[in-house]
Amino acid sequence: MHSLIQKAARSHRLSLEELTFLLSAAELTEDLAAAADEARKRYVGDGVHLRGLIEFSNICRQNCCYCGLRRDNQHLQRYRLEPTEIVKLAENAKALGFATIVVQGGEDVFFTAEILAEVVTAIKKLDVAVTLSVGERSRQDYQLWREAGADRYLLRIETTDASLYEKLDPGMSHANRRRCLQDLKELGYEVGTGSLVGLPGQGLESLAQDILFFQEIDADMLGIGPFIPNPDTPLGHEPPGDFPLTRRMVSLIRLLIPDANIPATTAMGTILPGGREIALASGANVVMPNVTVGEARLNYALYPGKICANDSPAKCRSCMEGRLRSMGRFVATGQGFRQRNTTERGLS
Ligand code: 5AD
Ligand code: SF4
Ligand code: FES
Repeated sequence: MHSLIQKAARSHRLSLEELTFLLSAAELTEDLAAAADEARKRYVGDGVHLRGLIEFSNICRQNCCYCGLRRDNQHLQRYRLEPTEIVKLAENAKALGFATIVVQGGEDVFFTAEILAEVVTAIKKLDVAVTLSVGERSRQDYQLWREAGADRYLLRIETTDASLYEKLDPGMSHANRRRCLQDLKELGYEVGTGSLVGLPGQGLESLAQDILFFQEIDADMLGIGPFIPNPDTPLGHEPPGDFPLTRRMVSLIRLLIPDANIPATTAMGTILPGGREIALASGANVVMPNVTVGEARLNYALYPGKICANDSPAKCRSCMEGRLRSMGRFVATGQGFRQRNTTERGLS
């Protein structure tokens, strides 16, 4: 095995140059995945946490150039679920056995902090972990939701290259995004972040920087997905992100932050059939099946071709269970909080 992979597996530390080299090394993809799979088994085990994802609104005040929910996209049927509908979906997900509910939406200002706090309070009564993913908000909002019982928050940094970020997310500030992540950490959330792989103008060194950033902020969860061009956006004609490169990102993150929760993302399963399973065998330990139903399920169209758009929550739940079993893995019990392993990492 390549000495740098051994070094990563042993010390969980690599320099920017070393990371950049490994990200460039297509021929090391399998070896990296094997090392990451071993680390995954040792640190987080064979159980795979399923998080039930509710996509409650596709209305967004932002205009990210890669995303189908961007406010200038006129080709999208917009929807917004009622708070009572969101809670109903959570109840169904709980009945299907999901122990974490993820409440995700575009940056829809209809959902005031108070309305979302009520949603959180209602879902927490189901005895599940609640993850919010509703974009950039004030510290006060984050605090209110934390007090209402929210356990986790997902906010991808998308890219740590501030000028690329501000070019692709017009009107948004990279500093504010970092501020949000900092506030969330300070408020005691488990914090998930992550990036897109293959954005136009994004180099390998920038992806290496992303990994160092995740380590620096001690992220609890890391969601990584390939950029998938959406014809209804300004980046519709750009080439998609590379699957093997995305896979090397996942593997390197497992090696460098071995006790993190890492989802096999829907985008990985969309860009390549069986892509989620490959991710699960390359360091990932979480899957986030969609538990939304009806029109909403079809219209949360970040990118085209999203898998499972025509399936039901029950179908995805049993499908995933079968897929995991055939890989020698199983659905983990419990709410799946990050289990910090300080001794393995030599930090005790
Ligand atoms: N391809 C892949 N992922 C995308 N996202 C948004 N648009 C795309 C796209 N075209 C991701 C962003 C965002 C998450 C909800 O979806 O990283 O954080
Ligand atoms: Fe809105 Fe998020 Fe899409 Fe940007 S990536 S347009 S903030 S939903
Ligand atoms: Fe949705 Fe297989 S996970 S159909």
